[in-house]
Parts: sequence; structure tokens; C-alpha cells
Amino acid sequence: MTNQPVSVVILAAGLGTRMKSGLAKVLHRAGGACLLEHVLRASHSIAPPERTTAVIGHQAGQVRAMVEGYGIRFQVQAEQRGTGHALLCCAETAGIGEGRVVVLYGDCPLISPATLQRLMEQHAVSGAAATVITTHLKDPTGYGRIVRGAGGRVEGIVEEKAASEEQKGITEINSGIYCFEARLLWPHLAAVEPNPASGEIYLTDLVANLNESGHVTLPLPIDDPNEILGINTRVELAYVDRIFRGRKARELMLAGVTIEKPETVTIDLDVEVGRDTLIGPFVQLLGATRLGEECVVGACSILENSELARGARVHAFSSVVDSRLGEGAEAGPYARLRMGAEAGAGAQIGNFVELKKTSLGAGSKAMHLAYLGDSTIGERANIGAGTITCNYDGRKKHPTAIGDGAFVGSNSTLVAPVEIGAGSYVAAGSVITKHVPSDALGIGRSHQTNKADWARARREKNRQS
Ligand code: UD1
Ligand code: CA
Repeated sequence: MTNQPVSVVILAAGLGTRMKSGLAKVLHRAGGACLLEHVLRASHSIAPPERTTAVIGHQAGQVRAMVEGYGIRFQVQAEQRGTGHALLCCAETAGIGEGRVVVLYGDCPLISPATLQRLMEQHAVSGAAATVITTHLKDPTGYGRIVRGAGGRVEGIVEEKAASEEQKGITEINSGIYCFEARLLWPHLAAVEPNPASGEIYLTDLVANLNESGHVTLPLPIDDPNEILGINTRVELAYVDRIFRGRKARELMLAGVTIEKPETVTIDLDVEVGRDTLIGPFVQLLGATRLGEECVVGACSILENSELARGARVHAFSSVVDSRLGEGAEAGPYARLRMGAEAGAGAQIGNFVELKKTSLGAGSKAMHLAYLGDSTIGERANIGAGTITCNYDGRKKHPTAIGDGAFVGSNSTLVAPVEIGAGSYVAAGSVITKHVPSDALGIGRSHQTNKADWARARREKNRQS
């Protein structure tokens, strides 16, 4: 009985009024992914994407576009007529009439793969028609209450509005997450009458319906109420974000990463960090960022879709996006790397230096106040303070090439397209518009003339007048 096919239906058609947003609720982000993505990741542990269907309605186009890449199916519920009606929209979906059907909510992102696994296992062993995840809440207001019957089975689920005073005192609540026997689910769901007050079809009414035909619904109580927390407002969104961030930081620390003030860092789900790497306070590691072993990321730095090889260091207050630092390379404090910037092994990028679409070869240095754009810089080159590549003529971008071992003096202006040959020097303060051959000295500035005694003569003249 355990290897029955499993289908997952994720209910995500609701509007999410309380988010006060033009964006669909399930697309709001927490912990580095949108709410629906978290649910998809968890559900992947019990069913493949081709057996997973999201019921969408409000902002259906937006939702579909966002998660299309997961390869799941979509079912549109044009009018939101209740949770039971939403599930009923999937009745004709291929393959869903056999095996088991698990129902999840698109706005409950903290449900864990382990809990879903337990749900499947208990359901298989008990032989129940339905199993519902429940938990106990100190304040159950707003949730459906679990009314237990003989032998601990679920006799019914009573919504807040319909609950008697006595039932309102029940602290065991309905998570909205269920596992059903498909062959019993579909005929009984089709027989559920709309709620007389709201006209909606409640999935919760299915339980009483099954009972009447002698089919058993059993609860699976879980300890951690966070797992079934549904997001309704941005306050709850922030709360869930904190939980995800906390989980990720803890996981990394247990794997050998030092994190200073872990409650202040923001690390996305898929970020990888090697052992003995040190992450300072308020650091953000986003997207597909990967850090090797023994790296350092200083306080308040932000790394997005970037890579640090072993021993690389990004000092405080730096921004590194879509870029890469080689082994032992350093950047910052206050460095900015973007759009495919690369620093070779041992390269050093200092304060207020920006690299855009630029590679700085192994052992090269740009220590202070420079803009290097669309440039290819060889190994062991020295880029003096204040060097600027003029890569943009107002219409097009142009490249700059700087050879191995070149020395660019401070405050030089390199007007691209231009080449600075290997081993050459550029005199400080030059405006370079022509290629500098290898091993040459390029000087692009007027000669200095000293006027002897000019200053003394001026002072004397001023005294006489
Ligand atoms: C539901 C349960 C309640 C449970 C609670 C847990 C019912 C009748 N009540 O109440 O017992 O304690 O969840 O959070 O099932 N949705 C659709 N289409 C619809 C209606 C809803 O897709 O027509 C989706 C929503 O987008 C949401 C989920 O279903 O993701 C739950 O709907 P919601 O209206 O929030 O149900 P609750 O009133 O919270
Ligand atoms: Ca809800």
C-alpha cells in the first residue's frame, strides 16, 4: 500500500487582501525565495513536479510565469468559491484519480519535507480515508477546530464562524494540509454542499461527509506550529523570513562556518559556504553565491551570485554582484565588483575601487579610488590611485587592455579603446589616448615649468601697493 502514486495539489488562487499588494501573495519573498517556491521545494520530497498541480486564480499569469521553471501543472480557478471548490477544479487532472492526493497551501512556506514524509507514512499505515495535520495553538482564533470523536479520530472540522462557544475552546486546529485516498476523495468531495451562509464549498466539510459513509479521518498532530503558519500580512512575512534565515545560518554554523552575530545576516537558501570561512555581522549572501574554505566576508558586505575561491577576502561594506575572486584575492573595504568582474589569485582591490566587466590578473593591484570598466588587466600590474578607464563615449562602450607587469601611475585617465603594453609605465596624471608599447613610458601631460623667484616677486609687489 505504501508505493501508491502521490499527487500534490497546492491551493494558491486566493487574493491575499491583507498583503495590500499588487503582487500575488504567494510571490512575496521570504528566506530568499517566494512563498510558493518554498512549498514546491517541500512537496518535491513526496511527489515529482509532473504530479504536482498549483490551483491559481488571482494574478494567475504572474504566478505561472514565476514558477513555470519547476515543471509543475496549473489549474485555473476563475472564481474563488472555497477551498473545496479549488480542489474540485483538479478532479479531471490526469492521474489524480488514483493513489493519494496531498493538499498544501501556497501561503504556508514552512512546512518541512520531514513532516510531509510522516504524513505519507502515517496515512499508509493507518489505512484512513484522510489524514489531516493538526497542531495545538494557545490562541486558535480564526482557524478551523478539530472535533475529535471515538478512538481519537476526527469527527469534524468546525470553522470559527460556525463554532459553538464550547468548540471555540478547542485548541487543536486544522492546518489545511491533508492526505486523501483518491478513490474516496473525488466522489465525496463532489457531494459536499456549499456552505449556506457563504455559498462556498469548504474542504473541511468533506470530513463529516466521509464519516457519514463510515470512512475514517485521522489527525497527525505536530509539535511546531510554525510549520503550518499561513502568511496573511507583511508582518508574518518578516517573521517567516527570520525563521528561514535562522535555519540557514544554523545549518552553516553546524557545518563549520563562523558567523558573527548570526541574527543579523541574510543568507539565501542555495548559498554554499566552505569550512572555516568567517562571515561578519550584517552580511548578505544572495542568490547562487558560493564561498570556498577559509574565506572572510567583512561586516555589511553584500555578495550576490558571486564566487570566492579558497581564502579570498571581501572586506567590510563591499558590493560584489555576478563576480568572482580567485584564491587569496582581496577586495574592499568599500569595493564594488559587478557584471562579471574577476580578480585572479592573490589580486588586491582596495577601497573605493569599482570593477565592471573587468578582469584583474593574478597578483595585480588596484588599491585606491579607481574605475576599471570593460578592461582586461594582466598579471602583477599596478593600477595607481585614481586611475579611470574612460570606457564610454556617450554612445558605445570601448575596451582597455593592460599588459602583465604594467604600472599605471596615479590619477591617469585611459581613454578607451586603448592598450597599455606589458611592462610599460604610464606617468602619473596622464591622459592616455594612444597605445603605449610594451616596456615604454607613456606620458600624456604638459611639461612642468618652474618660474624662479615668481612667488617672492609677487609678495614684494603686494607689499608696495
Ligand atoms: C482554511 C480552513 C481552516 C484552516 C485554515 C488553515 C477551510 C474552509 N478552512 O481556512 O479550517 O484552519 O485554512 O490555514 O478550508 N484558496 C483557493 N481558492 C479558494 C479559496 C482558497 O485557492 O476558493 C486557497 C487560498 O489561496 C489559500 C488557501 O486556499 O492559500 C486557504 O484559503 P483561506 O481562505 O486562507 O482559508 P482559511 O479561511 O484560512
Ligand atoms: Ca488562511
